[in-house]
Amino acid sequence: MIPSSVHKPVLLNEVINLLNPKPGEFFIDGTLGGGGHAREIIKKIFPNGKFLGVDLDTSAIQRFEKETVGRSGINLVCGNYFDLPNILERKALGRADGIFLDLGMSSDELESSGRGFSFNPQAYDEPLDMRYDLKSRITAANILNDFREEELSDIFQNYGEERHLKKIARVIVEARKKNKFRKVSDLIQVILSVAPRFRGQRTHPATKVFQALRIAVNAELDNLEGVLKNIDRILKSNGRVAIISFHSLEDRLVKKRFKNFVTNGLAALLNKKPIKASREEIKNNPRSRSAKLRVIKFN
Ligand SMILES: C[S@@+](CC[C@H](N)C(=O)[O-])C[C@H]1O[C@@H](n2cnc3c(N)ncnc32)[C@H](O)[C@@H]1O
Repeated sequence: MIPSSVHKPVLLNEVINLLNPKPGEFFIDGTLGGGGHAREIIKKIFPNGKFLGVDLDTSAIQRFEKETVGRSGINLVCGNYFDLPNILERKALGRADGIFLDLGMSSDELESSGRGFSFNPQAYDEPLDMRYDLKSRITAANILNDFREEELSDIFQNYGEERHLKKIARVIVEARKKNKFRKVSDLIQVILSVAPRFRGQRTHPATKVFQALRIAVNAELDNLEGVLKNIDRILKSNGRVAIISFHSLEDRLVKKRFKNFVTNGLAALLNKKPIKASREEIKNNPRSRSAKLRVIKFN
């Protein structure tokens, strides 16, 4: 049985106000997760609207299927948002009035997927997997055990902007000669040997390495580039796009692409500066601390 979602949607009111889904419109949530944003979007566009929810994670899709069973106009697909033009064609859904992406992983994946996303001690025995979909590509353990030292450094630098990247890569290569990386605790041990944890430290020394591995395993930045490149095959005129990012690599990419659309006269920004969570929201949901929302409207 799939447990109910514990994920709290981030910047919910802000997303709905700016995306402004209207009765009868067609909206896409490309990162369905626990359905927190999807539920509100659906309320605004139904009874006559159309909704497409996509997620790589089968649990997210199955959970929402159960919740919305028998409701017409709701389409759910286990897939990659990168593939949206093909999904729309296959399902003959036409183009959408709006698309929403809430990047990264959900609290459900972090806390109960058992795939090694978390470096909390309760997750130490989980396998170093980190795939959202469990079908494709390599796992985090494959990267740690098989990639060359320079490739590991590149991943830590490009996707984690990790300070100790060279040293961590070197120690990983040494450590795997004795024992292959299998569990979360194997990696934690190595990271702490290079960057020990000290009292009062706000971020765990493993944060950046875990982020970098997750981005590499799931090709997260490529997916984001891909969907933005194909936006004209996804949206109708006057279509809106809202994206929440959680780290500067994603936000930089969104900012750059949105700016290009504006400079080329294709769209207008609906918020000049990225929207961040209020103090109140951060208190209730610490995960919202690093969220940045950008919204654009096409002509
Ligand atoms: C932050 S959660 C979304 C939470 C959701 N907005 C809510 O409030 O419940 C991100 C979701 O995106 C999914 N995901 C990540 N990359 C994806 C991709 N390329 N295509 C489809 N889903 C993806 C993850 O599996 C996760 O469920």
